[in-house]
Amino acid sequence: MTVTTPSGSRIEPNFGNPETIDASLASMVRALKGSEILRIATEVRAMVAAGKQVCNLTVGDFNSKYFPIPALLLDGITRALAAGETNYPPSDGVLVLRQAVTEYVERVSRIRYPLESVLITGGARPVLYGVYRTVLNAGDTVVFAGPSWNNNHYAWLAGAHPVDIVTDRDHGFQPTLAQIAPHLPKATLLCLCSPLNPTGTIMEPVMLEAILRAVVAENQVRERRGTPYLFVLYDQIYGALTFGGKRHVYPLEVAPEAAPWVITLDGISKSLAATGLRVGWVLAAPAVIARLRDLLGHVGAWAPRAEQVAVAEFLRNPDAMAEFRAVMDSQVQMRLDALYQGFCALKAQGYPVDCVNPQGAIYLGLQLRLIGRTIDGVRIETNDEIRSLLLERAGLAVVPFQAFGLKEETGWFRMSVGAVSMDDITQAFPRIRALLDAVK
Ligand SMILES: Cc1ncc(COP(=O)(O)O)c(C=O)c1O
Repeated sequence: MTVTTPSGSRIEPNFGNPETIDASLASMVRALKGSEILRIATEVRAMVAAGKQVCNLTVGDFNSKYFPIPALLLDGITRALAAGETNYPPSDGVLVLRQAVTEYVERVSRIRYPLESVLITGGARPVLYGVYRTVLNAGDTVVFAGPSWNNNHYAWLAGAHPVDIVTDRDHGFQPTLAQIAPHLPKATLLCLCSPLNPTGTIMEPVMLEAILRAVVAENQVRERRGTPYLFVLYDQIYGALTFGGKRHVYPLEVAPEAAPWVITLDGISKSLAATGLRVGWVLAAPAVIARLRDLLGHVGAWAPRAEQVAVAEFLRNPDAMAEFRAVMDSQVQMRLDALYQGFCALKAQGYPVDCVNPQGAIYLGLQLRLIGRTIDGVRIETNDEIRSLLLERAGLAVVPFQAFGLKEETGWFRMSVGAVSMDDITQAFPRIRALLDAVK
């Protein structure tokens, strides 16, 4: 084969004026808000590059030095690639993985989904985007909790009408039936998440059951009227990570009669510390799955084929899973406990801080009641000012709940433990105390 190379001088494209190009793009994307977490992460990176000591609790990801993926999974991917699993996967996922997911779900929840109820996706994000697009027409109402992860952005992408329910610490930052019920008659989609990002709190099974029963009752009314159903998107991407004796509960365990309307999202991103592998799945009525598969097929939002084959093998190995869980869970819990106990000790000493006990995920909610106080004679006005003070003066990087759609300046922040060592945490507390001492 002869290879012909082009002749002449190098071509360096001139892309014109970025502002006029941007102004010509669709208003939907131009109004899309960028990730606040990534903005903060950039600030943190600059500080670290400048040689400052930072305990980085910002990104909802793992440092693979502390949280590697299971060795068996890595080995399985390598073997699958070598065996030629390098082509397009089927649009609903490789059959062995769909089978393995149904077996795994039955093992942990007793629920046996049929194969047509399972769709494999490139992580959880395509499911979120896809469900919004599959269920909602423009202008339809979607109800979700504030704070919660990215529902505000997905609502915008779908052109839906967002109703965010402001939750509180007393109810574990989970929405209650009393808060949700008034919105159900007008809603098309209700989004729940447990354990919740950003608070790490779980939805109590009785609360979930009450909400699902209300959804069933609402759909019985709609069935009589012949109007479109109300669906529930239950995001349990952190479901494998629960602490303090809490067990994660699948929605259909507490309300099996809600099966036609509950769409359950899961995957390995958080449970196997495998955010970069991009394997997720969704369980729902076959009629929903078929539409979702067709939509996501056009986006090509499939999980890589070799990863799918290897995840199937891993899910079918309960001993390897249990072994991995024991190590990962203890590492996550150790970090969450260290933060929780450290802030509880400060609270007991009269500092204006509060913290929610670790229940699940890799997150802990922290409140710093500093708004209205002064530091070096300057009044602290916003959560973002508190965040900057923590970063610059205490080397502690956290994310305000505002990044999760909360509008109120309540002094609450998310701390994420996947990328830090125990030393990072213990060394941060004297710096935090010094900052709090400087606040008048
Ligand atoms: C609640 C929640 N759902 C879904 C996702 C997306 O997961 P994935 O990385 O699999 O797309 C995240 C990621 O942080 C999350 O926090």
